[in-house]
Amino acid sequence: MFVMKKKVSVIGAGNVGATTAQLIVQSGLADVMLFDVVEGMPQGKDLDLAEACPLWNSSTIIRGTNRYEDTADSDLIVVTAGLARKPGMSRSDLLHANADILRGVCNAIAKTSPHAVIIIVTNPMDVMAQLAWKTTEFSCKKVMGMGGILDASRLAAFLAWEMNVSPEDIEALVLGGHGDDMVPLPRFTTVKGIPLTELFSKRKIDSLIERTRNGGAEIVAFLKSGSAYYAPAASTFQMVRSILLDEKRMLPCTAYLNGEYGIKDIYVGVPVILGKEGVERIVEVKLTKEEKSQFKKSCESVRKLVKNLGI
Ligand code: NAI
Repeated sequence: MFVMKKKVSVIGAGNVGATTAQLIVQSGLADVMLFDVVEGMPQGKDLDLAEACPLWNSSTIIRGTNRYEDTADSDLIVVTAGLARKPGMSRSDLLHANADILRGVCNAIAKTSPHAVIIIVTNPMDVMAQLAWKTTEFSCKKVMGMGGILDASRLAAFLAWEMNVSPEDIEALVLGGHGDDMVPLPRFTTVKGIPLTELFSKRKIDSLIERTRNGGAEIVAFLKSGSAYYAPAASTFQMVRSILLDEKRMLPCTAYLNGEYGIKDIYVGVPVILGKEGVERIVEVKLTKEEKSQFKKSCESVRKLVKNLGI
């Protein structure tokens, strides 16, 4: 049977955008249009990636561009355009500058790719996802954000090092906003099915959670300019794959809550089923009183930023 390749546009050809493009092209999953406002930069990266395709045995097409027309009729759009954190900055320090960028990007993609699914990566990501949904006026199922997969992967990595086990045997779950109040859930983080709460003392668990919450800042402090991008791109790629291949994976992503978890009218991180329609279902897990209050606190931090933007 003849299957047409899907078209993915990556808006923002910086560290996260170009690395996400690399993973898509290398896997042969879809053709990629790499967009940036900086002239020449996406074209240079496109050539470099295209010249690697013979080595990856990939027949996908990658193009770099500064024109939105070239991204037209994308099936999926990944938005990484914007400023990244510098040492000492929190994700929310980027709010207004990145909101201006996001509005422009979303107005353009709503016109040129009206049927696309959109994954927002730009920080502060939960609020940017909400802004993208409002600006494009797409169905909330089609607009989502990447954060929980990355936070869970960081927790899984720290746990694997701590126990000296393969990360393959670890499943981690982090809910809430992708910010300092994120809610890593030890009860639902398991090593071959054994919950973290059975394996470690509360003190040890607290220190793993703390390192997870600071995972992004820890890398920013080393890099000095720029922030993490290998794990963020790998996390975004998991979402891209689940949507394009209609895998229906259950992944922690930022989605619009309309009463689920007792929260209304904000985008925040929860487990969702990701398939060809986008966020096909939100999965509600029963939280303890303490988990609920942490989740609520995290939602309030996101809501504050949403109000600050006036959306
Ligand atoms: P970067 O600085 O390497 O790349 C950003 C790119 O956006 C630059 O190439 C820049 O020219 C481009 N850009 C700026 N304005 C634009 C516009 N109007 N249209 C199109 N492109 C535009 O930054 P990096 O490291 O790739 O990070 C990108 C964003 O992703 C940042 O906001 C960062 O905080 C966020 N991020 C989010 C993560 C998450 O878990 N959600 C994880 C890592 C980064």
